[in-house]
Amino acid sequence: MPNFETITVEKIGAVAVLTINRPDKLNALNQKVHEEGVAALDTLRRDDEVRVVVITGSGEKAFIAGADISEFAGKTPVTQRDLFHEKTFFNSIDNFPKPIIAMVNGFCLGGGNELALACDIRICSENSKFAQPEINLGIMCGGGGSQRLTNLIGEGRAMEMLLTGDMIDAETALKFGLVNYVYPVAELRAKTLELAEKIAEKAPIALQLSKEAVKFASRSNLDEGLRREVDLFAICFSTEDKQEGVAAFLEKRKPIFKGK
Ligand code: COA
Repeated sequence: MPNFETITVEKIGAVAVLTINRPDKLNALNQKVHEEGVAALDTLRRDDEVRVVVITGSGEKAFIAGADISEFAGKTPVTQRDLFHEKTFFNSIDNFPKPIIAMVNGFCLGGGNELALACDIRICSENSKFAQPEINLGIMCGGGGSQRLTNLIGEGRAMEMLLTGDMIDAETALKFGLVNYVYPVAELRAKTLELAEKIAEKAPIALQLSKEAVKFASRSNLDEGLRREVDLFAICFSTEDKQEGVAAFLEKRKPIFKGK
């Protein structure tokens, strides 16, 4: 893993914890974070030892407090549009073949919320706060928030978050389905790693194809989605892990999956 300025990566067994490391700026997403996030995920994608990635923010206050607002000054519509059509951190997460969990530890705002939304599962601490506050800057979200948030929590709730820019607390985020679990600050890391490790034991190819199938659900109609699911299900039958999973069940033992 290269030495990054704004990101650290720690490997714990088959789980990699990617931490955005700008605590003095509440981990705001500047261009460097996008570039290094993309590069880090490219490396983790090719690392066969890594089966699950957890993304979090450094410090005790914030996951990510949004896009780095200081970089908005002086940006033209065309440069901003080009940047977000390029390989962004959001897109790299969305296209990442292995499971990614957002471990939200505090403010999760704007681009931070959009980054969490691009992950597969979101878990947060009790002190977390979520918002899409772009409206307060006279702009709207551009990292997928209007689409992924609507898919996840429904139009009425997404509308309220986008139109008011107000923060919601962790309990409300749980009620909305924005996060799967809320834990006390002291338990967040252990509980998240517990889930990550559980997923890391599953068959990697089946995990990848399951992700693809679930993501396809909000990007297609039901007939196309059902057909795609059967195709992906059938691909699982070409893997060694399928033989291992079935054999282990029949032999009443725990399977050992190799990602083949
Ligand atoms: N972009 C750039 N810098 C940011 C930032 C962002 N999105 N969010 C926080 N920071 C910086 C602050 O400017 C401050 O830097 P400084 O110490 O050099 O002045 C530092 O992070 C700490 O933030 P501060 O505002 O002092 O903390 P706070 O506890 O008083 O307030 C927030 C926390 C999250 C409520 C507040 O920082 C905030 O509203 N941030 C912007 C959120 C936002 O609109 N995000 C969406 C952007 S599209």
